[in-house]
Amino acid sequence: MCGIVGCILDNEVAPTIIESIKKLEYRGYDSVGIATVTDKINVKKGSGKIKEVDDEIQLTEIDGNIGIAHVRWATHGNPTRENAHPHNSCDNKVSVVHNGIIENYKELKQELQLEGHVFKSETDTEVIPHLIEKYMKEGNNLLKSTQLTIKKLVGSYALAVISTEEPDKIIGARKESPLIVGVSDKGNFLASDVPAILNETRQVIYLEDNEIIQLEKDKVTIMDNNLNPIEKEITTIDWNPEMAEKGGYPHFMLKEINEEPQVIRDTLSESPKIKEIVSKFKNFNRICFVACGTSYHASLIGEYLIETQLHIPTEVILASEFEYFQNTLDNHTLVIFITQSGETADTIQALKTAKKISETLAIVNVVGSTITREAHHVIYTRAGPEIGVAATKTYLSQLICIYLLVAHLKEDEELIQKLYSIPELAEESIKREEQIIEIAKKYKTAKDFFYIGRGFNYPTALEGALKLKEITYIHAEGYPAGELKHGPLALIEDGIPVVGILPPGSSYAKTFNNLQEIRARGAHMIILGADNDTQIDDVHDKLLFNPVVDELIAPLIYIIDLQLLSYHISVQKEIDPDKPKNLAKSVTVV
Ligand code: G6P
Repeated sequence: MCGIVGCILDNEVAPTIIESIKKLEYRGYDSVGIATVTDKINVKKGSGKIKEVDDEIQLTEIDGNIGIAHVRWATHGNPTRENAHPHNSCDNKVSVVHNGIIENYKELKQELQLEGHVFKSETDTEVIPHLIEKYMKEGNNLLKSTQLTIKKLVGSYALAVISTEEPDKIIGARKESPLIVGVSDKGNFLASDVPAILNETRQVIYLEDNEIIQLEKDKVTIMDNNLNPIEKEITTIDWNPEMAEKGGYPHFMLKEINEEPQVIRDTLSESPKIKEIVSKFKNFNRICFVACGTSYHASLIGEYLIETQLHIPTEVILASEFEYFQNTLDNHTLVIFITQSGETADTIQALKTAKKISETLAIVNVVGSTITREAHHVIYTRAGPEIGVAATKTYLSQLICIYLLVAHLKEDEELIQKLYSIPELAEESIKREEQIIEIAKKYKTAKDFFYIGRGFNYPTALEGALKLKEITYIHAEGYPAGELKHGPLALIEDGIPVVGILPPGSSYAKTFNNLQEIRARGAHMIILGADNDTQIDDVHDKLLFNPVVDELIAPLIYIIDLQLLSYHISVQKEIDPDKPKNLAKSVTVV
């Protein structure tokens, strides 16, 4: 996830562009860059947040009335200055900013290098300016060259292109990455998202996949991918800037939950890379996961999956407790570190110790973070920046990576195919929001909550309880369903809410019995189960799922409803779910 902006004005464009790109910093903050066109392409860029780079190189001090800018969420290549956008062609006549992933960039890069093109970055994006340069040298104009270029691209893109050969226009294109146009009397704009242009105009055109756009100072032409002009409607936006940054959602957490189906899709596209990494593993006879917080819960699901599907002894260690268990590591242990930030101090310390003895794999969301530089192998989750402190979409993306890892280790095509059905099933969970709001209203004054699950779905109980604690400050506990009778049942009393996770599968009958035991003690039961399950008719509240969601894949779906439940209880209690008290997104102290 990155952010792009393009802008044409009558006057100097840089101050406006930099203000615009600042509004997209929520889409990435690894690097920032701007390019303008005068008699040449002028570029200023650097790694780090916009403020840091601006303090160092004064991004607004660059001439030109036409420009493009970018904030980067690194995917291919570390967050360095060289990899920061814009990227130029060899002759420096073409400059490009890009949001998305070019999946076939390696082949294209090889072809271009054979033709003599010299690359300056490790990014997938850089193939684009070189391809455009090639087509322009063959006699095509900027628009045609961009069209010919995108025909060669496999993957996703939102692009903005400028060239000294046609210094009065910006060409844009989109496929599977967002791009909008802003129109005004002062000039015209392209951007990844509405907040970038709200200070300049509220008149917006939403582009669709495979549309190409030519932006001039007084003219906007939108075309299909054969360059036939298309009529598009102009929408007037009535958001305020803060609402706009959150995509119209009241909180980042809700926005991030709503992004989950797409994040799952994006992470599934990592399957070939995960297969390649699996083929490089040395021999191992034991797996050890190390993580903290929500990443620890994702690891627990990994343990259940590996033990049941691969029959390999597996254990999960909290990173802060790692030093007490490190003595049994050997060179036949694969140690997997899971961390969304890649910067958790306890996890870094554990990795530094483990890598001296064992092969290590890190599953990380932030490209170029410390952990990615330390581990032997890295798998990137494709969640994009997560701003809400409570992990939501990063958790789902970690789980998808773990399921893919297990499926490739087992060479289980059926499981891989099943995973491709998850995005649609996740969309169904999000559609239940109204019903979840009603449940949230009912239980917002509860003092305690219990979450109960068995097998693969016990970690979901733990994660459901953690989400509730973090953002509602209600005491909550997650338990394996069979364990209540060994103590916690003493706490069950009339009216206490108990969330029972009851998907179809081999654990169903035992879990059902355990839930009956709890119910008999007066608990208010909130049951998550299959919508064809007639046995759960008679409970206080229920959230019903497609019966294809069996116990094996339920961790990928049921948690979405539990995230929404915590979110709505938090909102009902007038707590800001994005910034829970005493907590931080990235914990860099041991
Ligand atoms: C903090 C965050 C949690 C996260 C945990 C581990 O406590 O608030 O959401 O699960 O750190 O972070 P990591 O970046 O290592 O996944």
